[in-house]
Amino acid sequence: MERKRVLSGVQPTGALHLGNWLGAIRNWVTLQHQHDTFFCVVDLHAITVPHDPALLAQQTRQTAALYLACGIDPQLATVFVQSHVPAHSELCWLLNCITPLNWLERMIQFKEKAGKQGNQTSVGLLDYPVLMAADILLYNAHLVPVGEDQKQHLELARNIAQQRLNGRFASDGETVLNVPEPLILPEGARVMSLTDGRNKMSKSDPNDNSRINLLDTPDLVRKKIRRARTDAVTGLTFDDPERPEAANLLALYALLGGRSPAAAAQECGRMGWGRFKAVLSDVVVEALAPIQQRHGELMADPTALDRVLSQGRQRAETVAQASLERVRTALGLAPRTPETP
Ligand code: TYM
Repeated sequence: MERKRVLSGVQPTGALHLGNWLGAIRNWVTLQHQHDTFFCVVDLHAITVPHDPALLAQQTRQTAALYLACGIDPQLATVFVQSHVPAHSELCWLLNCITPLNWLERMIQFKEKAGKQGNQTSVGLLDYPVLMAADILLYNAHLVPVGEDQKQHLELARNIAQQRLNGRFASDGETVLNVPEPLILPEGARVMSLTDGRNKMSKSDPNDNSRINLLDTPDLVRKKIRRARTDAVTGLTFDDPERPEAANLLALYALLGGRSPAAAAQECGRMGWGRFKAVLSDVVVEALAPIQQRHGELMADPTALDRVLSQGRQRAETVAQASLERVRTALGLAPRTPETP
């Protein structure tokens, strides 16, 4: 039986945090064993908001190294940089021309980010979800493992594939490209901010204390957890909607410590905040140590990382080019004439 295709990506915007790991990358590691997996560093998405050109390339490599450090095996999965495969931008243009503008204007993340940037909002930010659809459709992905916040973007990618591409341009009974399904696992799909349990942990939060970055030192992790918002109630619980911070920190403890939510609640249910924060810090520091060690080794060997990204690019390009040709043909673009000798 043919293995299902999987594609996902993370933006190289600043440091990756626990949400990116637990909501996305952790699941990729499992999927690579059963499926044909493609994981890209989505650098073209990272430039849809103002960015520092002096840092982008380094952050792109650091993100790729973190994929590997978290357990992605380049022998099993294809790891590459989005901008290294020009078919992403090309398919994005073709999809732009068949996607209604008002589908994009409705996107929650666009409205949130555009609200912060006012009249500096770029066309790229509005187009972000179409580029994301291109990333997914180019690999004919069946499954897209992401966190909860990407649900609406995935729905858009499905609608573009189903209604606009296959619905309007497929010749009888055929599909142009596959319609992808989101894969959102309940645990870890929505890791919340340390400073406000009602907001998700996010790279774009200006307060670094709101998140634990995968490369934070043990001292910094302990400091951030010590400062994390608490409430006046003693004891930890998952199921009180009035206590989002308790639910979030207990969920982190369960996930990172490899315990079931019930076992974590049993173990920590009666602890005071001080005691609980100390045990949570130990579990977080212990979970991050092997990732940080491996990341350090990978960054110290740039040639090996280059090799992984170059092999990844070649594999990705072959698959992407075939899908792009299908879309070009379906849309009726003139075939390229073969080169004359
Ligand atoms: P990014 O970089 O914002 O997030 C990368 C992944 O991390 C997940 N995530 C979270 N999960 C749980 N809790 C959180 N607090 C949290 N914050 C982030 C996101 O859901 C995502 O899975 N638009 C994508 C990048 C992208 C992409 C794609 C993903 C571009 N093209 C194609 C899949 C397929 C994004 O959110 O990146």
